[in-house]
Amino acid sequence: MESGMVRPLIAGNWKMNGLSSACETIAEVAKGLEQYSDAADCLICPPATLLSKVTETAKGSRLKTGAQDCHSAASGAHTGDVSAEMIADLGASYVIIGHSERRADHGETSEIVAAKTEAAFRAGLTPIICIGETLEEREAGRTIEVVSEQLAGSIPASAFGKAFVVAYEPVWAIGTGKVASTGQVGEVHDKVREILGERFPGQADQTPILYGGSMKPDNAAELLAVENVDGGLIGGASLKAEDFLAIYAACVSAK
Ligand code: 13P
Repeated sequence: MESGMVRPLIAGNWKMNGLSSACETIAEVAKGLEQYSDAADCLICPPATLLSKVTETAKGSRLKTGAQDCHSAASGAHTGDVSAEMIADLGASYVIIGHSERRADHGETSEIVAAKTEAAFRAGLTPIICIGETLEEREAGRTIEVVSEQLAGSIPASAFGKAFVVAYEPVWAIGTGKVASTGQVGEVHDKVREILGERFPGQADQTPILYGGSMKPDNAAELLAVENVDGGLIGGASLKAEDFLAIYAACVSAK
């Protein structure tokens, strides 16, 4: 996985899934974590509607909670939006920013992502900044160029000295069952580490770089063994406690 000082992270992104009954899954994950080493962090980001209840359910356990998006402003006339301060107020500690589904469905540019990342820092949250190329971009041989541009534009200069996470999620691997090969993942993760090292000297080996895109219990060990892969951002497989815990177990044993 990695040789530096990075603390691995297994993060679940529930996307627009889960009603109040889904808190049973949270309780199961929180309890299940007790049987494993605490060598990695574990996080679930439910939809905003469940964040309060989920955070309450996870209290006292090793399971952390986070949101899937935030507005860049602290408060104001932004109907339907949620601020980073509101997320922190619930006791959640992370926020996913710039997921490809938000970049595609809500026209979020890297500039917007950088402003939201600033908001996360302002509120004391750890942002998980997402980057990743489309199939068209990969087939055109532009993967490294695209992720480098997204990385440069999405992480504000104020990130220096602050805790943040980068998630590499190739768009074509999300929800498709098509997993990036270990070679493809390794190439991008190495590049991300290199860019972070140039931009934030001394900090790159403390910044977790997660892989996301069809990570499941049966492919997690292989993906997590790749150098510079410090964990995963998991969609579908995070909805089932058993599967999510199996990925966590693969992560702590890959260490
Ligand atoms: P899947 O694991 O369902 O492919 O989703 C990945 C993802 O987009 C997590 O943010």
